[in-house]
Amino acid sequence: MNDSSAKAIATIRARIDGRLPKVAVILGSGLAGFAEALEDRLVIANRDLPGFPHPSVTGHAGDLVFGALGGCQVAVMTGRTHFYETGRADRMKTPLSALRALGCEILILTNAAGSLRPDAGPGCLMLITDHINLSGTNPLIGPGDDTRFVDLIDCYDPELRERALQSAAAQGVELHQGVYMWFSGPSFETPAEIRMAKLLGADVVGMSTVPEAIVARQLGFRVLAVSAITNMAAGLDDQPLDHGQTVAKAAKALDGMTRLLTALLRGLGQTP
Ligand code: HPA
Repeated sequence: MNDSSAKAIATIRARIDGRLPKVAVILGSGLAGFAEALEDRLVIANRDLPGFPHPSVTGHAGDLVFGALGGCQVAVMTGRTHFYETGRADRMKTPLSALRALGCEILILTNAAGSLRPDAGPGCLMLITDHINLSGTNPLIGPGDDTRFVDLIDCYDPELRERALQSAAAQGVELHQGVYMWFSGPSFETPAEIRMAKLLGADVVGMSTVPEAIVARQLGFRVLAVSAITNMAAGLDDQPLDHGQTVAKAAKALDGMTRLLTALLRGLGQTP
């Protein structure tokens, strides 16, 4: 654990009043509204937490919100930092280490993504089953010990995925499943890159999640990830791409995402 993590943990412990979150959630572009569903909320601004991100992207708030849903204590980051903001893939390591040290065992990642699947258009949700990282970078590059050779088979926990599917079905929320391909951004992909992604087996594309999932697996989190589809990927329809649309269309998926996460967390709260 680095110095920033230790300081952040001390600040959090001094303020959370005995809350012991079991699950951490990171909210993607336009999805911060989920944090409002929490009961008994306590908000700590990321600026008070050394090493926590100060998102520079519209649609990303910058707080760490503690609370409960159906008896499950959670810690929710209402925004993240992306690789494209700094050129560093490991910028989420400090917050993730802090959340793990606080006792979180499960990490739920959400994001906004572009879809390659005509049956899963804007407003839909997609459960990530696996990912493709051909970005050429990895958050674990650099000095480290043998724990950096992380096994990514079942990176997205099969038991949690099953729970997510059951929670979605119980809520009547349609939940597609597919493979997420990470692109560095911040420019959107070209139509040729999307045709390549399709050939390689991708179902959705996005600019986040993968570095966090890799760091989280090294830290021993069980990981689940869900995409909110905000657009068809480049060249798959006649719509131009822009970030305003990402934030606006994520709002369309927010209700389903909130219902899905609420049901999932309630279930997790009932598991010892
Ligand atoms: N590509 C990459 N990231 C995204 C997209 C996309 O089409 N939509 C939302 N985030």
